[in-house]
Amino acid sequence: MNLNISFVNEFKDKQSTVYLVKESDSLKNELTKQEFNYLNSQIENKQKLINVNRFDQQLYILLIEEKPELYQTVEKLRIQANNLLKSINQASLKSISISNFTNDNNHTKACIDGLALGNYQFLKYFSKKENNSLTEIQILTSEFTEKEKTLIVSTLEGVYWARDLVNEPYSYLNAIKLSEEIQEKSKIAGYNVEVIDKKQIEALKMGGLLAVNKGSIDPPTFTIISYKHPEATNTKPVILVGKGVVFDTGGLSLKPTPNSMDIMKVDMGGAAVVAGAIYSLAKAKVKINIIGLIPATDNRPGLNAYAPGDVVKMYNGKTVEVLNTDAEGRMILADALSYAEKYNPELVIDLATLTGAAMRAVGKEAIAAMRTCSDKIFNQLKDSGFSTYERLVEFPLWEEYGELIKSDIADMKNLGGADAGAITAGKFLEHFTNYPWVHLDIAGTAHVPAPDSYRGKNGTGSGVRLLVDFLSKY
Ligand code: BES
Ligand code: ZN
Ligand code: ZN
Repeated sequence: MNLNISFVNEFKDKQSTVYLVKESDSLKNELTKQEFNYLNSQIENKQKLINVNRFDQQLYILLIEEKPELYQTVEKLRIQANNLLKSINQASLKSISISNFTNDNNHTKACIDGLALGNYQFLKYFSKKENNSLTEIQILTSEFTEKEKTLIVSTLEGVYWARDLVNEPYSYLNAIKLSEEIQEKSKIAGYNVEVIDKKQIEALKMGGLLAVNKGSIDPPTFTIISYKHPEATNTKPVILVGKGVVFDTGGLSLKPTPNSMDIMKVDMGGAAVVAGAIYSLAKAKVKINIIGLIPATDNRPGLNAYAPGDVVKMYNGKTVEVLNTDAEGRMILADALSYAEKYNPELVIDLATLTGAAMRAVGKEAIAAMRTCSDKIFNQLKDSGFSTYERLVEFPLWEEYGELIKSDIADMKNLGGADAGAITAGKFLEHFTNYPWVHLDIAGTAHVPAPDSYRGKNGTGSGVRLLVDFLSKY
């Protein structure tokens, strides 16, 4: 992360500052009389974001709008903080402080998140890099514990990394490279990694992953990340499974190009979120026992590619009739989900850019969720969805939907009907689970084609903040 975030006790002279206030009176002692009058006149003009330009120091006053619910207030604040970035970078400021007068840490955190996430850039492939000027955020005398401070920063690093991974093109990030990047980061984060290579994947008979990989010239990988704090609160692990399709052409059921194939480097968005979230939790030494499983390959129509009509024997022995090679995500996830059984997990959450249907149903505003876990656990996850504004919408896994993936010649087929595509994909995956499970279809949120406030443009890292929030409270 090319942004340094620190928690300090003293103001530097002439330090440009973002003030978070509920009313102008809080700043009586910070401003000159003239500035204070200006602030009040702006507030009377219904301004919520006021800039006091001292020329050698910029002050930005963010007037907090209290909404009915805290999660709404802080989301507004993240967006306002992001809106500030344009002026901050135009003023060529390198460093900015946050000074909160509301006595509510949630406000400070939202402001940090909005500034830091909005300031993300992916410039690697530009020959001339136009970096944002802002490289430092200082938080003044806040009430955060040391643990909270570390987690705030490590979460942002996790999101940055997940975005980088999603934004990397396939020409750089094939399955092997993805596993190497995960290994590389373990040195900083302190998690363990085991990479299962093609030979071992064959020996394990992961039929789904191998079938999708058949058309590729690059081998598949199956990456296992583990992190267990000695005082972990859970003895049985929580497992995160991430779809790692490093590029999805659709295979022989080729996607129509140029429309739908263009962004398909994002099809490892689930893998990026799993890696990013475990990075954040491990780096902040959160007391948890967690495992990440990442099946990875590209999906392409090579000479030996798997074909519609093929019957594939999966890792758990079940058979699948392949009717569309573009429904490849469920093939590789299914193997990972049944592999998860051997750990006797307490909870398994998978994340996948799985269906266009999920994207069409909820757009970029929500993650489509399906689950067999308890209401208690799911409500906690949903709450984290609100507080991070990575919201979940639950779709049903009613048994009638299961009828749509029945096959004439195998245990199931990998394609449902024309309708309810996100749900039939979920029903497919359910066949490979025998533990409390949540499926998160992030097809709509992993990537945004146009700037979406602090979520930025392109890879969003959507899901990292959700999982870190949920698992750090788990
Ligand atoms: N990777 C796609 C889903 C996707 C679509 C992700 C848009 C991100 C944005 C997935 O592998 C896919 O192709 N799904 C098909 C499934 C269908 C063939 C049953 C789809 O959604 O069209
Ligand atoms: Zn596909
Ligand atoms: Zn896909």
